[in-house]
Amino acid sequence: MSKHKLIYQIYPSAIGTLQDIADRIPLIAKLGMDYIWLSPVFYSPWVDGGYDVADYKRIDPRFGTMNDFRHLVAVCNKYHIGILHDLVLNHTSSEHPWFLASERHDPWYKDYYVWVDKPLNWQSFFGGPAFEYSQIRGKYYLHLYDKKQPDLNFDNPRVIKEFKDIIKFWTDRGVAGFRVDSANVLAEDALKSGYLPRIPGFFNYYQTKKTVKILEKLLGTDKIFAVAEPVGGDFMSKTRLHELTRKAFDASFNIGTLDVADTFFSMKDHLGKVHYRRWFWKLARWTPEERFSFALETHDTPRAVSRFNADAKSLAMLQFLLPSHYPCVYQGQELGLANPKLSSNINDYPGVASRQLYQRLRREGRTKKQAMNIVKQASRDNARQPIDWADYILQDHNEKSVLNFYRNIIKLWREDIVISEGELKVKRISKRGIFDFDRVYKGKRYKVHIDLSGHTPSTLKNDLGQVILSSK
Ligand code: NOJ
Repeated sequence: MSKHKLIYQIYPSAIGTLQDIADRIPLIAKLGMDYIWLSPVFYSPWVDGGYDVADYKRIDPRFGTMNDFRHLVAVCNKYHIGILHDLVLNHTSSEHPWFLASERHDPWYKDYYVWVDKPLNWQSFFGGPAFEYSQIRGKYYLHLYDKKQPDLNFDNPRVIKEFKDIIKFWTDRGVAGFRVDSANVLAEDALKSGYLPRIPGFFNYYQTKKTVKILEKLLGTDKIFAVAEPVGGDFMSKTRLHELTRKAFDASFNIGTLDVADTFFSMKDHLGKVHYRRWFWKLARWTPEERFSFALETHDTPRAVSRFNADAKSLAMLQFLLPSHYPCVYQGQELGLANPKLSSNINDYPGVASRQLYQRLRREGRTKKQAMNIVKQASRDNARQPIDWADYILQDHNEKSVLNFYRNIIKLWREDIVISEGELKVKRISKRGIFDFDRVYKGKRYKVHIDLSGHTPSTLKNDLGQVILSSK
């Protein structure tokens, strides 16, 4: 039996209220996950899909009440699933009472956020300056994301204490752990200008020693299961990943390996052609890492089937047949969902990131049409659409469905030691999307052929040469 854990991400508004989520658990649980990572359900003005929290101890009314949350925990317990709350540490909403008090120079709260007299040249991850002037305070505050998401000041012990309290509040209510948002950019080393071309300022706050210490204080206990979401695409070296995870986390969510599918953290303008060679080599380098969490989709990326123009079963094989210690499946991925047809009017997009991407593209000289085409392809709103439960039920009953393929491959990943523990031996990587590798464990050798181009079926052969899994 594998000691590794499967995480399943739920982006709540794509399902409904907490009660709706609880009602769906029995069906979703047939996938066999250990944890559900729940994107934020806290009280929020919803500027960034819940990642702008105005009260960490209150459920947003759109999702229900604390009683509904208790019910969800009870249902998950019944299915032996732990809930991982999304812990947004780096910033709050500008409507959080801490910020409102800080702006007014309240003696207790004045240093809860990062205030400066003169703005620096730092850029926010969503594009545009990372410092905003507050008329009320007469100073500038830092926001690595939207201006309605001011950055907390982690040099202030009171802020750390607030989060200790919030963590306890939720673990007391049955939460098994946390997925920590923007985990490696919490505390700045220096408030001075920076020179990295796309995001000046980055190296002043990127995984500082201070940040690692803070996280260790907050989460470095065996009782809490914690997954880091580090920011920074390819900048993260293995040593850095190890330092972050060893001290505070059980696993680190994807970094660098997902950037082919993402415009946001990789700081690219659009999704170009997939460079399969580069990407597969990256996967081969990262996935054997013990605490690495490999995902193909999240609420921040378009659907993988569309991004790679590949069949869902081959993608499932890529995710579960590479060494995958903490794989994370995003809701709807197990149905093989593709990007929906999104609107051509930017005002119809709820996500702040899509709108800011559009504005950036326009500023950079793209026509309206060009900018919209890129947004449609790359938008995070692609993955945030409501799940069609009728489809879920149909797939549940169809042996050949993508859903049942996922269930089978997950079972194999859990039960077959060659798949869970075997060493990875890369054999062939082609720029057309073909990836051949072996998994070897104590003299047993399984052969994996992944073909994302769709020319040949993807297959898994056991040590006797029998095909035990095929995408066709
Ligand atoms: C990462 C989250 O995944 C993303 O959705 C959000 O916009 C940023 N962090 C800011 O919280």
